[in-house]
Amino acid sequence: MAQTPSVLFVCLGNICRSPMAEGAMRAAAQEAGLDITIDSAGTGAWHIGSPPDSRAIATAARHGVDITSQIAREVTHRDFQTFDRILALDHQNLANLRKDQPEGATAQLALLMDMVPGREGEAVADPYYGEADNFEATWADISAAAQALVSALTAAQRR
Ligand code: 4NP
Repeated sequence: MAQTPSVLFVCLGNICRSPMAEGAMRAAAQEAGLDITIDSAGTGAWHIGSPPDSRAIATAARHGVDITSQIAREVTHRDFQTFDRILALDHQNLANLRKDQPEGATAQLALLMDMVPGREGEAVADPYYGEADNFEATWADISAAAQALVSALTAAQRR
């Protein structure tokens, strides 16, 4: 039996994009019956201990996903060994992860949108200074990536 896959989603504050990614991925995995370890974290420390932004909570809720129990945390060195994959929401966060990865890191680093065929190399725009529309656009990107990731992992488990 293959080991349970694990994925960490990383944005800047861990209050908008990566909590939505965590929520979308939990929902997509549950629907597909995929056993997976999922978490999210930020490269910045400002919001440690906070719940997701109320606009992120509202957006996820509109799509039937409850993210209210998430608590923001910062990426740790341990994450680079405990997760198979660390998926950054944009290029700046990916660059910070590459810079901060410790010796012995085993996690594969990539952009979240690299998971979506045809959208490799794209960033998920930061909605923090935006409006509800921006959060909806974030959700659309993130749920496309969650679906693609679930498909890829489900196919890998069948192999
Ligand atoms: P996130 O959004 O990285 O998607 O969680 C942000 C949240 C907070 C800040 C920036 C982006 N901030 O500057 O506090």
